[in-house]
Amino acid sequence: MGNMGGVEIGILMAGGNAAYGPEMAGQGSTEISEVERLTNEFQAHESQEGRFIGRYKEIAEKSNNPLVKFLLQLIVSDEEKHHAVTHAIVSTLKGSLTWTRPEDAVTGLYNLGEGKEELLRLTKDFIKLEKEGITEYKKLIKNSKHYYQGLFVLLLDAMIYDSEKHVEILDFLRKRLKEA
Ligand SMILES: [Fe+2]
Ligand SMILES: [Fe+2]
Repeated sequence: MGNMGGVEIGILMAGGNAAYGPEMAGQGSTEISEVERLTNEFQAHESQEGRFIGRYKEIAEKSNNPLVKFLLQLIVSDEEKHHAVTHAIVSTLKGSLTWTRPEDAVTGLYNLGEGKEELLRLTKDFIKLEKEGITEYKKLIKNSKHYYQGLFVLLLDAMIYDSEKHVEILDFLRKRLKEA
């Protein structure tokens, strides 16, 4: 979280049920314009990311080499995810500015119903599985060091980063679910 707008985002994201619109009430217009500024920054990043993806795809499609294509495609999938994430952030911020909840906004854990307990259990199980996966990848790295100039090490490393990210996501979800 950057220093700019951090407080506002904290407020917007902190709530459970109504972490949008109404929570802006009572705050000065200065804070609102801060959120507006942040929204614009994210929006600029969103379109930048879009162009970025286009360039990667172009190069990947032009190449006749399967390794080049494969590696660039890995980046393209990630960039598409980044684009989706940035889009979700923008929609959420816009929703808070207009006191609405756009369909693609992501904030607040509500409508969990009976699924909540099961979800809590699942997050616990998945965190364990992800961590076991990381251990497994690390073992595989040791044994694949000498293959294809480190290609497998690169790919395994990438999966370890992903798994670490999954643990972080699950951990976040688990903490918020406990509070919900
Ligand atoms: Fe990106
Ligand atoms: Fe995973």
